[in-house]
Formats: sequence, C-alpha cells, structure tokens
Amino acid sequence: MKKNICVIGGGRWGKNHIRTLSGLGCLAAIVESDSARLNAFLDEYPGVKGYTDVEEAIAARYDGYTVALPAELHYPIGKKLLESGLHVLMEKPMTLTSAQSRELVELAGRTSSRLMVGHVLLFHPAYRKIKEVIESGKLGKLFYLYSNRLNLGTVRTEESVFSSFAPHDISILDYLTGGAAVKIEARGAKFLQDKVFDTTLTQLEYPHHVHAHIYVSWLHPYKQQLLVVVGSKGMISFDDSTSEKEIHFYNKRIDFENGVPVKVENPDEIIPYEPKMPLEEELKYFVEHLDTAIGINDGAAGYEVVKVLETVQKLVEK
Ligand SMILES: NC(=O)c1ccc[n+]([C@@H]2O[C@H](COP(=O)([O-])OP(=O)(O)OC[C@H]3O[C@@H](n4cnc5c(N)ncnc54)[C@H](O)[C@@H]3O)[C@@H](O)[C@H]2O)c1
Repeated sequence: MKKNICVIGGGRWGKNHIRTLSGLGCLAAIVESDSARLNAFLDEYPGVKGYTDVEEAIAARYDGYTVALPAELHYPIGKKLLESGLHVLMEKPMTLTSAQSRELVELAGRTSSRLMVGHVLLFHPAYRKIKEVIESGKLGKLFYLYSNRLNLGTVRTEESVFSSFAPHDISILDYLTGGAAVKIEARGAKFLQDKVFDTTLTQLEYPHHVHAHIYVSWLHPYKQQLLVVVGSKGMISFDDSTSEKEIHFYNKRIDFENGVPVKVENPDEIIPYEPKMPLEEELKYFVEHLDTAIGINDGAAGYEVVKVLETVQKLVEK
C-alpha cells in the first residue's frame, strides 16, 4: 500500500524509521532541525522532501507522520499534528506526563486522527509467539513473569532509566497478561547523577493474581533483555539480546504429592517462530491502518504506559 509518510526527527532511532519507510516505498519527507544531518539524508534518499521546520511539513499534509524526537517534544509536536487532523505514530514514551497523553488521545478522537505509539516489541515475532503459547494453555495458569533490560548505557541526563528503558517492558507485560497492572511498587538508586535513577526494580500485580517485576539498569556490565514467564504447567525464557533469539520452553513444574512439593522436570524445547523485523512490521501496520482504526499500540495503550512511568517515578523518589 503506497502512502506518503513524513518522519520527524532523524536521530539515532529516527534514522531507522527513515530507512525502513524508504524500504517500504513510503518515505516522502524528513523533518530534521540539524541541517547537515538533513542534507546527508537527502543525499542518501533522493526524491525525498526535506524540512528543518515542522510547520512546513504540517502544511504539506502527508498521509502520516512518525515522530522520533526527544521525548519532551512529543507532546507539543503531537498536538500540532493532531490539531491539524493528521495521523501520527509517536515514538515511546508517548509524552512526559499522563495528562499530556490523555489530552492527545482526546484530541485525536475529536479530529478523527489516527494515533499510534511506537511500542515496537509488540510487533516482535517472538513476543507474539509467547502470547500464543500462553493462550494455548501450554504454560497452565500464569503465575508470574519478569523482564530484565540491562546494559552499559545509553545514559540519559533528563529522564530516569525506567522512563528510558521500561516502556518496552510495561507494554510487553500488559500485552502478555492481557491488561494493566492493578498494584505497583518500586525502588530505585542513583549513582552517576544527582537526579537521575540508574537502576530500578518495579513489582507489578496484574488481575487474577499474576505477579511481575521489571528490573532495568544502564549501569550493568553486559546487555540482557530477558523475559521469563512462569506458569503452573511450564515456563518460558527469551533473551532478545542473544544472537540465537531462541524461545526456550521448560517442561518443568512443582507438583504436590501428599502435601509434599515435588519437582517435575521433562526435556526442554525450543519453540520456533518466523523471524520478522519488528520496526518494519510496526511501520507497515501504521501505513495499512491510516484509513481504518489502530487496534495495536493505540493512543490509549500509550497513555497506560505513561501512567505507569509516572507512578514509578513518584514511588522511586519517595
Ligand atoms: N521504539 C524504540 O525502540 C526506540 C528506540 C530508541 C529511541 N526511541 C525513541 O525515539 C525518540 C528519539 O530518540 P533518539 O535516540 O533517536 O534521539 P536523538 O536525540 O538521537 O534524535 C532526535 C533527533 O531529532 C532532531 N530534532 C530535535 N528537535 C527537532 C525539531 N524541533 N524538529 C526537527 N528535528 C528535531 C535532533 O536534531 C535529532 O537528530 C525518543 O523518544 C526515544 O525514546 C524509541
């Protein structure tokens, strides 16, 4: 489906939007305030229109806009786009505050604009497969799950590690459990800067007594993006930072025999899935839903994630 999309912000992540949309045949324009950067893109992608000022790109009324700007600009730029009745894919986090996110959701409703949020891992085939396995009943009743997102860097100076890393984890946990957390507790620690948390540990409780935790740190010796899901009949692990990217199924559980807990261990399995590029899937979904409704990662889902970010920030600062 050919649509003309404009990418706003061609930084470290925005350049992936640019490359991917170009590959899909949908890259029409780029807005980048750094003119040297913009010119380099225009050399690389001939025929694409370039702007340093977002207002000019808004006036040109493209079929859709992706916003990969620093998080504090998401709200003001998103507001301008939605007020003009334009369709927007906003990078995560949707905005800095939940009040701003709610305002954008309401605005999109009033102007009939599509509003999607870039929680890209919901388009990752491994998490899709894990969701399928949970729904198939192979794990039994869901007990608990956790997500570790650890690395050395990228350290931010304006936002905590939770705001920077955890939108992915929150969106995955919400997706796998099928809802939003009903109870949240969190602790964090600052080592490198006075006001910015470097590590946080957040405990979440979901409906039906499903428990979860998210551990994030950018001050960690190696990269780990590990998800573990534990159910009454089996368990799963998946580490997206490994080269194999395998979903491991552990046919393991604890049974009770005459009131005595007994370990049951059967051979493990690797669960196959079809590899796909998450960002490409996400952008394809946005392009294909410009004329219909956004069902995955819509503005309301983005708002829920920002609400958790805000709650955790308050809890760690206590
Ligand atoms: N979904 C993901 O997995 C993922 C991964 C990384 C980053 N992100 C998000 O993407 C966004 C961008 O992150 P980044 O790491 O690319 O940031 P970045 O700082 O590298 O890039 C931002 C770019 O926007 C440009 N810019 C700033 N103000 C502008 C303006 N008013 N008009 C036009 N251009 C302007 C800057 O010159 C820069 O090139 C952030 O919200 C981040 O959280 C998402």
